[in-house]
Amino acid sequence: MIIGKSRKELEKMRAAGQLVGRVLQALRRMVEPGITTLEVDRAAEKMIRDAGALPTFKGYHGYPFSICASVNEQVVHGFPSNYKLKEGDIFSIDVGATLEGFVGDTATTVPVGKVSPELLQLIRVTEECLERAIKECYQGKHLGDIGYAVQSLAESQGYAIVRDYVGHGIGRRMHEDPQIPNYGTPGKGAKIKNGYVFAIEPMVNIGTHLTRVLSDGWTVVTADGKPSAHVEHTVAITEEGPQVFTRVAESELEEVKIAGV
Ligand code: MF3
Ligand code: CO
Ligand code: CO
Repeated sequence: MIIGKSRKELEKMRAAGQLVGRVLQALRRMVEPGITTLEVDRAAEKMIRDAGALPTFKGYHGYPFSICASVNEQVVHGFPSNYKLKEGDIFSIDVGATLEGFVGDTATTVPVGKVSPELLQLIRVTEECLERAIKECYQGKHLGDIGYAVQSLAESQGYAIVRDYVGHGIGRRMHEDPQIPNYGTPGKGAKIKNGYVFAIEPMVNIGTHLTRVLSDGWTVVTADGKPSAHVEHTVAITEEGPQVFTRVAESELEEVKIAGV
């Protein structure tokens, strides 16, 4: 069942989204060769708690951390660890926060130091896939329109779309109906309505679309060990068009830098 949100609920979701969007921007600025992914996790948890929110991931089906930290061939759900990021890595940070009962969920993939043009292009296209998906977020469109927007761009650039993991509805719970695949057929799938809120999250691979899970039970990697990128926004469908709750306004980025949140 897809849970539509009232105006009031959407405003709360915007607040949760803005908080976690700011946290993600602050984490992004911490990334440099030598920092461990666990240090990034610790910083995320502190920022979220200091803002009066809860790190949604911690304890979710037993997940032990506040962020997912997925490096290079890791697709999603990587464990933060003592691994020191090194020049040339790409690092996907996924973070969630629950504020006043509502969840925001967002992710980005960050180049560590100087990164190959091949990987920068992968990130750029993955980001553009998300932007195209957001442009489909109107009442009357279908989930297949979102999936098609992501898939058609990624595949036209020679990349593969992960099918084993998908985006999702979001609200009081991180994962609500419907599932939002990053592939699809225009005009197919459930009809989109105002008041729906979606976490849209393209996962784009350089090689095969196939994945496997490491023995920690969580970390998803590409089956061929080639790199993967992942980005995510929490987006509301409204009469005024798509509202990207986890997007931080350009004018506020400087503030994020100064305050550390
Ligand atoms: N935030 C992830 C997603 O985008 C899910 C994380 S699972 C958790 O759907 F266990 F780490 F919380
Ligand atoms: Co996420
Ligand atoms: Co998500």
